[in-house]
Amino acid sequence: MAPQEDNVLVFFVNGKKVEDDQVDPEWTLLFYLRNKLRLCGTKLGCGEGGCGACTVMVSKYDRIKNKIIHLPVNACLAPVCSMHGLAITTIEGIGSTKTKLHPVQERIAKSHGSQCGFCTPGIVMSMYTLLRTSPKPTMKEMEVAFQGNLCRCTGYRPIIEGYKTFTEEWELLQNSNKLNGEQTNGCAMGDQCCKLQNGTGTTDPEEVLFKRSEFTPYDSSQEPIFPPELKISGQYDKQYLVIKGKTVTWYRPTSLEQLLELKKLFPGAKLVVGNTEVGVEVKFKHMVYPVIIQPVLIPEMVDITNTEKGVRVGASATLIDTENHLKNEIKQLPEEKTRIFKTVVEMLNWFAGKQIRSVGALGSNIMTGSPISDMLPILMANEVTLELQSRDNGKREVLLDGNFFTGYRKTIVKPEEILLAIYIPYTNSDRYCYAYKQARRREDDIAIVNAAINVTFEPKTDIISDINLAFGGMSYKTVTAPKTRSKLKGLPWNRTTLELAFTHLQEDLPLDPGAPGGMYVYRRSLTLSLFFRAFLAISQDLEKYIPHIKIDKRDLSGINGFHSKEYKSSQYFTVVPKTQEKTDALQRPVVHASAYKQATGEATYCDDIPFFENELYLAFVTSTKSHAKILSVDTTEALAVEGVHYYVSAKDIDPSCNNIGSIVHDEKVFYDDVVTSQGQIIGGIIAVDQMTAQKAARKVKVEYEDLQPVVVTIPDAIKHNSYLSSVPHKVIARGDIDKVFQTAPHVLEGECHMGGQEHFYLETQGVVVVPKKEDQEMDVYSSTQNPTEVAAMLGHVLGIQLNKIAVKVKRLGGGFGGKESKAMMIAVAAAAAAVKLNRPVRCMLDRDEDMVMTGGRHPFLSKYKVAFDDQGKILGALVKIYCNCGYSFDLSPGVLERAMAHAENSYNLPVARIEGYLCKTNLPSNTAFRGFGGPQGMYAAECMLQDISVFLNKDPVKLSELNLYKEGDSTHYNQKLINCTINKCWKECIESSRYYEKRKEVDKFNKQNRYKKRGLSVIPTKYGISFTVLHLNQAGALILVYTDGSVLLHHGGIEMGQGLYTKMLQVASRSLEIPIEKIHTVETATNTVPNTSPTAASSGSDLNGMAVMQACNIIKERLKPYKEANPKGKWEDWVKKAYFDRVSLSATGYYRTPDIGYNWETGDGNMFNYFTYGVACCEVEIDTLTGDHEVHSVEIVMDLGESLNPAIDIGQIEGAFMQGYGLYVLEELVYSPSGTNYTRGPGTYKLPGFGDIPGEFNVSLLKGVSNPRAVYSSKAVGEPPLFLGSTVLFAIKDAIKAARVENGFDPNDFQLVSPATSARIRVACQDNITAKFKEPEPGTYSPWNVLV
Ligand SMILES: Cc1cc2nc3c(=O)[nH]c(=O)nc-3n(C[C@H](O)[C@H](O)[C@H](O)COP(=O)(O)OP(=O)(O)OC[C@H]3O[C@@H](n4cnc5c(N)ncnc54)[C@H](O)[C@@H]3O)c2cc1C
Ligand code: FES
Ligand code: FES
Repeated sequence: MAPQEDNVLVFFVNGKKVEDDQVDPEWTLLFYLRNKLRLCGTKLGCGEGGCGACTVMVSKYDRIKNKIIHLPVNACLAPVCSMHGLAITTIEGIGSTKTKLHPVQERIAKSHGSQCGFCTPGIVMSMYTLLRTSPKPTMKEMEVAFQGNLCRCTGYRPIIEGYKTFTEEWELLQNSNKLNGEQTNGCAMGDQCCKLQNGTGTTDPEEVLFKRSEFTPYDSSQEPIFPPELKISGQYDKQYLVIKGKTVTWYRPTSLEQLLELKKLFPGAKLVVGNTEVGVEVKFKHMVYPVIIQPVLIPEMVDITNTEKGVRVGASATLIDTENHLKNEIKQLPEEKTRIFKTVVEMLNWFAGKQIRSVGALGSNIMTGSPISDMLPILMANEVTLELQSRDNGKREVLLDGNFFTGYRKTIVKPEEILLAIYIPYTNSDRYCYAYKQARRREDDIAIVNAAINVTFEPKTDIISDINLAFGGMSYKTVTAPKTRSKLKGLPWNRTTLELAFTHLQEDLPLDPGAPGGMYVYRRSLTLSLFFRAFLAISQDLEKYIPHIKIDKRDLSGINGFHSKEYKSSQYFTVVPKTQEKTDALQRPVVHASAYKQATGEATYCDDIPFFENELYLAFVTSTKSHAKILSVDTTEALAVEGVHYYVSAKDIDPSCNNIGSIVHDEKVFYDDVVTSQGQIIGGIIAVDQMTAQKAARKVKVEYEDLQPVVVTIPDAIKHNSYLSSVPHKVIARGDIDKVFQTAPHVLEGECHMGGQEHFYLETQGVVVVPKKEDQEMDVYSSTQNPTEVAAMLGHVLGIQLNKIAVKVKRLGGGFGGKESKAMMIAVAAAAAAVKLNRPVRCMLDRDEDMVMTGGRHPFLSKYKVAFDDQGKILGALVKIYCNCGYSFDLSPGVLERAMAHAENSYNLPVARIEGYLCKTNLPSNTAFRGFGGPQGMYAAECMLQDISVFLNKDPVKLSELNLYKEGDSTHYNQKLINCTINKCWKECIESSRYYEKRKEVDKFNKQNRYKKRGLSVIPTKYGISFTVLHLNQAGALILVYTDGSVLLHHGGIEMGQGLYTKMLQVASRSLEIPIEKIHTVETATNTVPNTSPTAASSGSDLNGMAVMQACNIIKERLKPYKEANPKGKWEDWVKKAYFDRVSLSATGYYRTPDIGYNWETGDGNMFNYFTYGVACCEVEIDTLTGDHEVHSVEIVMDLGESLNPAIDIGQIEGAFMQGYGLYVLEELVYSPSGTNYTRGPGTYKLPGFGDIPGEFNVSLLKGVSNPRAVYSSKAVGEPPLFLGSTVLFAIKDAIKAARVENGFDPNDFQLVSPATSARIRVACQDNITAKFKEPEPGTYSPWNVLV
């Protein structure tokens, strides 16, 4: 009998029941929340489960355990149909500023853990879900909870600081402090606090960025209840759900028979458990699966049970349930029985984030057959048994061995069969299992290579009775090593056997030099290194009972990778004097003005703006070729899709206006003849909604004819003489460099290459264009850092006067320079469509589109020649700087010029010649990115210094000290340094970091450890503040005072998380002498303050702050007579009186930076208004077998003058440092030789995660310093600290040297390209393993990727 079908989807959202019979199975939960329920607090950051911005809590009632289960889930991957009978809690459901904040929301805001706020709801929901499961979690649980969340702004430290107050450890510490009668300074380390340790600190209770005592206590009994209907009745769990959509039908059977019947009926049906694989395939590979079956209610498939021989895991059992079950077994059973379980559990710690593990299944992982699956090597090396079943042929058992996979993601499982269960066996005392994974980032990353080793010895001996090895990342499937297996059987476990294993593993695991994934030497070396790691671990196990096996103490360091660490931090800043008026908010650690709204999901970003009537959506058709002629564009099929309205393209624009660009109009709105990069906009489909528009856009057929050359790399550009401007573009010259080279005692030549960087603002670029009914007026809501430029480009392209275009920006979910010039490209295209159709048009890029279309930080190649004396004092330098601009100018000239101006970092170059070259390539056009070329220029300076240190065999620290600028020195572009505090920062950093003591400790550690090496580095930075384009150094503000005394503040700056609005409110509070609560900022708009400069170059608060101050002073001056007449009166009294006296209560302020303007021809004039200085010291540890690393400590000292807001400024320092660390160490953009960007999302592009923050992270703001050249003696902070992130790379370099010495190689004979990825670190740590693999000769193979 056919089962009774139910077709109405029922679930609960924030306690309210949702019943929907019109659901499309293609919708994700995120789509439903944001578009159907308009709950926009949950954000879309990537759509592939990699950022956590979409985290919600899903709760269900477990009828077997009789308890409610709460899980963190990525709403972007969860199909809405999978929510049937479940309860969802979103950020809106836990608290709001209008009612009451939940402590989880309050604490992240108060601890300054929310900057742009786009990641905040997801982080709040991860923490909230943890608390619902474990009201007093451990630090470890908290660490695990955040594995799937990313933040691009904060550097994570403040989030951890705020949230650790929920933990068990925190409570224990508080209790023990109370018992001992101790006062705490708020630091969890108590008297181990770094401030007390290094003697710099005070326990003044005021000297904290936030007071934990002000946190609302957490009371878990106050949480909303689970929907009673779901608890009382299990009716929804018993329903056979069938939901039919336009192209997909969703089945949720409730019995195995139903499932097998369906599978027979639809052999091509996709089984979906967590949808974490299939969801990504559908979204990014555009796969269509018309029949989806969700087997999550079938007891045989979800249960995990113990059997005589081991554990049976139902194929649909989630990874988290599997982990919990196995952990329990490990606890209960003798150690020797659970060795496979242990490897599975340990591996799961490095498997995705908690959100993915909560829904993804073990069976799905196997059936996906990914060549880099983390579970497959373990299961295959142990040859577990799989139970398969089909309706007609019943059950069969197969071994998961080398024969299971028959091709790429193909298995021996028949179409009508399903995987029912996995049997993981117990081990015995003679069997050992180890498994390892090496990824770019330790947490939540896919493997580069993983390995599992399973050895059984003859009873109580070291003679190998069997050995099975499996590896991922070495082929199109997980592979075993049959030759090694057969050759090693019967041999003893010793170094001779190890060498034999190395030989046979090389044969078992070949790799084509051009194989997808690249990293030929690294991957091959890893296979041996990981085997060696297992060799050591098993030797240690055997040592216990086999007398002749002895493991050298120094070798123990090769056994383990890095694990979680304890976090310590301190923040040191000037506390406002007690005499400062309470109402005066300036220089206090005031919480970000939007933090509470960000923590509750109420803060509105571009795509959260409510739908406008008749609104349409734009999806782009972009170039898939790097250099080609467009032969034809066929939109027939796309336009036939239901819901599609139009195809917008070059035909909709006056051909003379189809050109845009920040400096030079060398880009097109729509490309119609030749494309010069992938990602260029050819046209756009306008449809009723995003899904329709995107589907139709994929149906637009573009025919191309390939053109040559395709220039991708800087050397390519040099070879083809492909430049954007004359060669060189610009030169800075001081003195006669040739003469110096002739006379100097020493001259060295070298070069350094630095890769680019993706902005990865959590909010991708978006725009909503709303044409009005009258006079061509239009409102444009754009996620731009530069509203004036967006308006100007719109005006130019569409022929509309700027006074009719209002570009409005409330806030950005991060910008980092990426939204300075790039916002215009999508805004103009959307506006062209909106004008054409006279309807509002919205567009928000998907993450992959954003990463392919909008460019990033420029890769740089610097070639240098440096002259120096015997001491290492630099006498002169010639630096040729090449930057990879991509296909157009964009802001590249400015980026290059800043790199040239920073090519000395903080070192005096008495004679210099710096040449800059703008390389034109067929890559996306690169653009501004925090630091704007400065970090690339400074990197060249540090590389030069490092080369000198190698040549003279001197500590680079000594050389830095010798060459650092002194007060009164002038730069190579002839700017005299006044109030130069670099030496002060340096001295303080060396002392507070205990550099010289640490150096001894590091040396000692390196002597004691064979396979782990530590390294140290101290790096200064000096960053010039001002736009180098003179006219941009101006700003305006508008102050409106209302008769109730409230003040509305407008200025030209954009809030993108950096706290600009907060600082402006603080400036106004000080200037007007009124409490901050009376002042409000709404948004930045071109119809309130015109002709704004972009919010960039770190100058937002300097320029706008001065303008705000000016406007306030005008108001204050006007109110002065009323204050004098009524000195005891209040602000409101004076305002009211002035109004009745007909005194204007609005004023504009204007500021332009005085005494700047560098003449590039003559070398005269000041390039910068002033400089921000800082120094960082870092200690790292590297794993010389894998290239993995861990940052132990970072100490930063910065001069920020009199900080306007120490909490915001310290947040900027920490965030910039972590972004710089990403740039120099973790984040690698990977391009194919033909210009395809392989790194299009968080899955392939790795930003630093929670687990990457330094173990100890101390930040001090230099005290007793002031800056007469900026608002209220402050200094700009946004970009300057970023370069300090390079200190991690240089510390790694230091550690590599120690590794090379250990292995008998020249410590200095290696190149370390930035970013110093695990692959580059490992290969630089040359040893007997890497020696077995030679980098293939260029020209003998087609490389998979190239260094651009
Ligand atoms: C952000 C992110 C991080 C990730 N990190 C990792 C990682 O670190 N390591 C790793 O190995 N993987 C990782 N993955 C991949 C993925 O999460 C895992 O493979 C997971 O186990 C898939 O489970 P699922 O239930 O969500 O799969 P689904 O998408 O639901 O299904 C996957 C496949 O399995 C098939 N299938 C499921 N059950 C059966 C069955 N019973 N019989 C036959 N076929 C079946 C489906 O038809 C489908 O083809 C990651 C994925 C994402 C999105
Ligand atoms: S949007 Fe879902 S994880 Fe990024
Ligand atoms: S605050 Fe985390 S991404 Fe901006």
